[in-house]
Amino acid sequence: MIPTLETERLRLRPFTPEDTASMHHILNGPDVLKYFPGPQTVTEAQVERMINRILAHWQEHGYGLWAVEQRTTGALLGRCGLQRITETNEVEIDFILDPGYWGQGFATEAGLASLKFGFAQLNLAEVVGIVHPENLASQRVLQKLGMQFTETTEYFGMAVHRYVKFQPDPNQ
Ligand SMILES: CC(C)(COP(=O)(O)OP(=O)(O)OC[C@H]1O[C@@H](n2cnc3c(N)ncnc32)[C@H](O)[C@@H]1OP(=O)(O)O)[C@@H](O)C(=O)NCCC(=O)NCCS
Repeated sequence: MIPTLETERLRLRPFTPEDTASMHHILNGPDVLKYFPGPQTVTEAQVERMINRILAHWQEHGYGLWAVEQRTTGALLGRCGLQRITETNEVEIDFILDPGYWGQGFATEAGLASLKFGFAQLNLAEVVGIVHPENLASQRVLQKLGMQFTETTEYFGMAVHRYVKFQPDPNQ
């Protein structure tokens, strides 16, 4: 079962097929996919497959991406959570939000809840952040989450900045 997390302003809940149209709108927003490899627009069918992949990832690994909802309005703001990088056997944090909601600390709030889940519930040793070198907003979020830059390297066939956060020591 996919857990639901609540933060001060957000609800991180399982995706459902009913989220397809809203996610389609969000992913096709201005600059949303600017720093991702591949096409800059997506079809509804691709979003449907994305949601299915997200649900299958939860089934296989016991963690994954949540639908991020604003608690007061119930509006879908985007996605956030943890996903496995098959090639390196790492767990990465991921967030994509609706441009209409950028700059209000929502990615940081959802990211903190995701990291807490990863360390406290999954007992992960570390979580990485993989980001395009020019994606400064995303890097700022990773820094606000307490992640450290490790190196410029290559993932998914592109040059990226790698960040990491280790499980906090409970004795400190
Ligand atoms: C990255 C993203 C999730 C951030 O969401 P958000 O809710 O706006 O993030 P927050 O409000 O928590 O924090 C954003 C921080 O970046 C800063 N920022 C925004 N644009 C910036 C820029 N061009 N240069 C430097 N910093 C920038 C903001 O000022 C803020 O930092 P601050 O709190 O110190 O002022 C959002 O921009 C997004 O969905 N982008 C498209 C998808 C994407 O690239 N995802 C990341 C893939 S690795």
